[in-house]
Amino acid sequence: MFERPRHGERAVLLFVGLGQRVTEEDQQEFNALALSAGADIVATVSSARQVASSRYLIGSGKLEELQAVVEETDADLVLVDHELSPRQQKNLEAFLKRRVVDRAGLILDIFALRARTHEGKLQVELAQLTHLSTRLVRGWTHLERQKGGIGLRGPGETQLESDRRMIGQAIKRLHRRLERVEKRRQQGRQQRRKQEIPTISLVGYTNAGKSTLFNRVCNAGVHVADQLFATLDPTLRKLDIPDRGAVILADTVGFVRDLPHELIAAFKSTLEETRDARLLLHVTDCADPAHMQHIEQVEAVLQNVGADGLPVIHIYNKADILGVKPRIDRAETGMPVRVWLSAETGEGVNLLLSAISEYLFQDRVRGTIKLGVAEARLRALVYSTGQILDEQPLEDGGWQLQVEFERRDYEQLRSREELRFYEDPEHQPVVAGINAV
Ligand code: GTP
Repeated sequence: MFERPRHGERAVLLFVGLGQRVTEEDQQEFNALALSAGADIVATVSSARQVASSRYLIGSGKLEELQAVVEETDADLVLVDHELSPRQQKNLEAFLKRRVVDRAGLILDIFALRARTHEGKLQVELAQLTHLSTRLVRGWTHLERQKGGIGLRGPGETQLESDRRMIGQAIKRLHRRLERVEKRRQQGRQQRRKQEIPTISLVGYTNAGKSTLFNRVCNAGVHVADQLFATLDPTLRKLDIPDRGAVILADTVGFVRDLPHELIAAFKSTLEETRDARLLLHVTDCADPAHMQHIEQVEAVLQNVGADGLPVIHIYNKADILGVKPRIDRAETGMPVRVWLSAETGEGVNLLLSAISEYLFQDRVRGTIKLGVAEARLRALVYSTGQILDEQPLEDGGWQLQVEFERRDYEQLRSREELRFYEDPEHQPVVAGINAV
């Protein structure tokens, strides 16, 4: 069940399939979105037209049917699973005498409800104002005294009654504040890059189980809810991999089909952060019959933000529902491509940790270096470049080090220095457990 506010607003859902059938999956998804925003769904109306009516989106017969349903059910608002032009929205509201919220408005509302960090709130507010500004320009006055409720909530509420100029100023102000926040975030990112701490980003369709998995792996106590978009702000946690060093795990926003473009724009910096990741964990609810479509939709968003070329491990989460035993599926190269697990029960999470370890450390070399007594400078260099696993003094006063390097660091070092390095051919990436620190 989805959590929802106690006093839900009574909503009629309108599905419009222009030139194509409204599928069961579309309906379920929109239902879930509406519930997630706290609506009580009191009725559903479907329209199958070839083309949209520019005045009302739907035809006059369907409009009358909708009006009758709205009256009969004493609905507070109509949620339309389609994009509405400002004019269509205004006309529908005037005709039905009810608030009408389209898909983008609904998603913005859910984001407004869920935003938790300062940055997330600013981003949602910016998206809401941008969405609103196009509407206010065209004489959005008939419902402006109504406050609160689905589509009218969130940090932007006070601006709803403002005129276009004020909104424009507010948007500018928000841009400035966001820039400052983004700068701070960028500095953090640079710092991590300097320290060469790899970032692993969790991405996935909304409700796939990212936060649950994040918690499971990090034990971090991030808010988890059976609601769409429980995750709005990327949450970062440092993990320590024994013998390997630290990685950062980042939880990101939930993706959904047709994310409103205002939101993509506002969340660009957040989404772009995934571009910097060394590895993506693409979480999918494998028990959802539409999971293949969800994967495609997430991939489309990743492409949109330029994060589509990164290495990915697919996480087939909720394997417990299907009764599938946790396992790793591998490519011909032997690398893990898919991990079946249950974030909820924790089964298979250890496999995921091994898979991450294999991915991140496949490019490492381990071996032994012998250094003469006069090579203290080189010894210092090796210490600062690689990870020293062991050091033994040699009889001649030198040292024997057991070292592990990132392969590119090793290649660089070798191109500059005379190294007596004996690679350990047996060395496989250590499949280590990961502990939260
Ligand atoms: P957004 O923040 O909306 O993107 O969602 P999310 O991907 O972070 O999903 P979240 O972790 O909030 O999980 C969504 C729901 O799925 C919650 O009710 C979880 O309890 C449930 N869930 C997560 N993982 C599993 C699992 O492995 N098995 C089962 N049965 N349920 C799970």
